[in-house]
Formats: sequence, structure tokens, C-alpha cells
Amino acid sequence: MSILQVKQLAKTYYPKKDGLAYKALARFDLQVEKGEFVGVMGPSGSGKTTLLNMLATIDQPTSGDIIINGTNPAQLTNNKLALFRRRELGFVFQDFNLLDTLTVRENILLPLALDKLSFKKMEERLERIAKLLNISEILDKRTSEISGGQQQRTACARAIIHEPSMILADEPTGNLDSKSARQVLDTLTSINQEQNATILMVTHDPTAASYCDRIVFIKDGEFFSEIRKGERQQAFFQNILDTLSVLGGDFHEHTHARS
Ligand SMILES: Nc1ncnc2c1ncn2[C@@H]1O[C@H](COP(=O)(O)OP(=O)(O)OP(=O)(O)O)[C@@H](O)[C@H]1O
Ligand SMILES: [Mg+2]
Repeated sequence: MSILQVKQLAKTYYPKKDGLAYKALARFDLQVEKGEFVGVMGPSGSGKTTLLNMLATIDQPTSGDIIINGTNPAQLTNNKLALFRRRELGFVFQDFNLLDTLTVRENILLPLALDKLSFKKMEERLERIAKLLNISEILDKRTSEISGGQQQRTACARAIIHEPSMILADEPTGNLDSKSARQVLDTLTSINQEQNATILMVTHDPTAASYCDRIVFIKDGEFFSEIRKGERQQAFFQNILDTLSVLGGDFHEHTHARS
């Protein structure tokens, strides 16, 4: 079953004052099946965040269609769109986007509280997910008191607690050291494998990308190529590096620090 269908998607930015219109994305097709873990890579400025913002329903396409779990969000009214976004999508960003006056528990439960789920049901889900992501011990700490890796695992928990159709992640390991990055990638992998969650992750980092089942490469706002993971992660990793070098452009500034 397809969770996501993108057809001939295009985005042109029109500057508010004078200046040239900029085609950030064009003729872009993509299909993602339930349970897939898909990576999106491409040089800086190639249109990755533009794509993700449209999938996130934060921004609207200039033309083309996006179908998420059978619905075209562009055809929803504003109220229905807000509900759709909250129910169908989960988000993980580079800078975590947690509320630091709240505890880990409160941050994770916030999306459920909006949906008025019963307290018992919320607690059950929280307990299961906290265990899976190894954050049970820190649920009552404020997010200002925990490490970057713990913050990002909290953000992952918040992204999945409402069991969305699709999780969208933009550089989720971009601000993490390599050990925390690995923990977050392991987290996304277990969400993917144990909950059959569908994940779309933008990343500059070939190591992070090698956790995915498939990588879609974008160049100058258009589909460039895609590769799938075969039997061996190492061969996949090499394949990613090779494609990136063919692709050219700037990748280094965002690659996370290694230790
Ligand atoms: N709001 C906007 N108005 C005008 N141009 C924009 C806007 N947002 C992005 N762009 C331009 O569209 C192109 C694609 O930007 P986008 O942010 O999607 O790139 P990206 O692939 O995410 O890059 P990075 O890897 O650096 O995050 C860039 O040339 C950018 O300058
Ligand atoms: Mg970006």
C-alpha cells in the first residue's frame, strides 16, 4: 500500500518585491510504500527542505499533487488541514523543537492531549515508546536538563506517539555528535522495524543515509537517481558515496562532526 504519492510536484518561489522567480523543485515524482525508510539526499540548495515542507503541508505546491494515505491535503480546508497534519504526520527536526519549560513526558504527550485521548491510553503508549527509545529514566526531567541525543530521542517519541502515517525528518542528526547520531538512527530504525512506521529522512550524512532502505537523490530541484539497500550495508554505503561524488555540489558543511 502506498502511503505517499507525489506526482509532477513543482515549487516556484516568487519574491515579494522585485527579483526573479526561483524554481526550487520541478517534475518531481515519488512513491513511498507503508513501512519504508526512505532517505532524501542532494547538494545544498537542491530542494530537499522545499520538498519536505510541502509534504509536511506547511507550504503549498505551485503545481502537481501530493497524496498522503489517500488524501490530497491541498484540498482540505484550514481546520481540516491542521487536524490532518496532527493525525497523519510526525516531525523530527534538526533543532529538536521541544518546549524547554516542559518535561520530557509533557513534550511527548502534547500531541495526544490535543486529540483528547484518555489518560490511561496515553500512559500506556508512552510507557511502550519510552522503553523502545530508552528514555524511561528521564521522563520527568525538563528538556533543558538532558543531552542533545536524549532531546532528539524525545522528539522521535513525540513524532510517533500518535501513530502517524508518515514521519518526516529533516537532518535529524545534523546537530548531534556521532555517538548520539547513531542512537537516534538506531531509534528511527527500531520505530521503522517494530512499529512498521514509514519514514522520510533528509540527510547530508552518508552514514545516516545508510540506515535507510532506499535513497532518492535530488539535483537542481529534480529527481536525479535512486538506490536501494541490498544485502550488505557496507556496499550500500559505498554506493551512496559514489552517487554523491557523481552528483557533486556541497555536502561537507552539514556533515556532523565525528569523534
Ligand atoms: N522561501 C524561499 N523564497 C525564495 N527562495 C527560496 C525559499 N526557500 C528556499 N529557497 C531557494 O530554493 C532552493 C532550494 O532550497 P531548499 O531549502 O529546499 O534546499 P535544501 O536542499 O534543503 O538545501 P540545504 O541542504 O542547504 O538545507 C535554494 O536555492 C533556496 O535558496
Ligand atoms: Mg534543507
